[in-house]
Amino acid sequence: MCTIRYRLLCALHIVTLCCTSCYHLPRDFTTMNNTPLRTLAKRTGVQFGAAANPHLLVRDSRYAALLARECSVLTAENHMKFRFFQPHRGVFDFSQADVLVQFAEQHGQRVRGHTLVWHFRLPAWLESNTWTRAELLDVMQTHIATVMRHYRGRVCAWDVVNEAVADTGGLRSSLWLSVIGPDYIDLAFHYAHQADPAALLFYNDYDAEGLNAKSDEVYRLVRNMKARGVPIHGVGFQCHWKFDDYPPLNDVVSNIARLAALGLEVHITELDLRIDKPVTPEKLERQAQAYREIASACLRAPNCTTLITWGISDAHSWVPYFFENCTAALPFDKHYQPKPAFYALRDAFASLPPHP
Ligand code: G3I
Repeated sequence: MCTIRYRLLCALHIVTLCCTSCYHLPRDFTTMNNTPLRTLAKRTGVQFGAAANPHLLVRDSRYAALLARECSVLTAENHMKFRFFQPHRGVFDFSQADVLVQFAEQHGQRVRGHTLVWHFRLPAWLESNTWTRAELLDVMQTHIATVMRHYRGRVCAWDVVNEAVADTGGLRSSLWLSVIGPDYIDLAFHYAHQADPAALLFYNDYDAEGLNAKSDEVYRLVRNMKARGVPIHGVGFQCHWKFDDYPPLNDVVSNIARLAALGLEVHITELDLRIDKPVTPEKLERQAQAYREIASACLRAPNCTTLITWGISDAHSWVPYFFENCTAALPFDKHYQPKPAFYALRDAFASLPPHP
């Protein structure tokens, strides 16, 4: 069922009595006297943003306008990964990420860097070689130092290490772990801090947002890093969830709180809520409710300071490529029109009093 608020919006636009078609019809929502999400979020002390694709920023003006309007922070969905930055050993390519960073600067947006050390999407030269510990440490340090110095003062936070905890417990098998050993994580953070002492340094992972064995593992990892004096400032909660199947929000709030007790920030780094086909108005309303709850959970926690969706529009999302039967995970539809999820985020951000 449609919510009363959404029906009122439909009525205001005198478009239709049918909610399904209404969802497609507010042709230009920018004329609706809406305050952008970035403004509403900022007054609560939270940055709102999205993962972006530099190619689209250049060639799709509607995509660029939407991101400029709604986001106070951008991250690169793909173009800051190892494979893009260093396709050949010692040869760095910043061209695409630079497009994104320049766009962000032109629009008064911050940038989150994603990601420096990950087991996935490594270049062939790195994966196919046989390395000693000393050699791979040199590769890791050179990569981190070169990238972070290039963006020093322009990228405010980095996912230094991504997805290092295994789904089954312990650390995930990876080139980094097998050649360097478990201290690759500490060392990556030390190298990152040396390269840009002002940048906020994050550990980022999925399925560790609520209270479960994996989030306990992540908690122990970052607690022990803090205890050893490793320069880590926060934990990223990816939040790639299904619209009707996600962790209890009270658990997410508790998890954020125990990280606060360690002195760590939390960024919601990759939120999207996929829907299994067929997409119906009822599912879109449930998705909106889920977006509202997740935003509210972040807003309730003083140490949850950023909320980023993994893309902005259903026209450009990893979801259909990776989940055969799922789609429509983002707050704007594939025609860049706002979905109930957008209005739910707006409500959540608007419902809190301004941050003192
Ligand atoms: O666009 C092409 C399409 O034309 C082609 O038909 C299709 C065939 O496979 O590939 C499409 O591109 C793929 C793209 O995802 C689609 O979104 C790329 O091959 C694929 O490499 C790319 O994967 C990215 C993935 O990370 C691996 O780097 C996703 O874009 C990106 O959303 C995803 O992001 C990760 C975060 O970095 C870490 N957390 C999980 C998150 C989702 O997996």
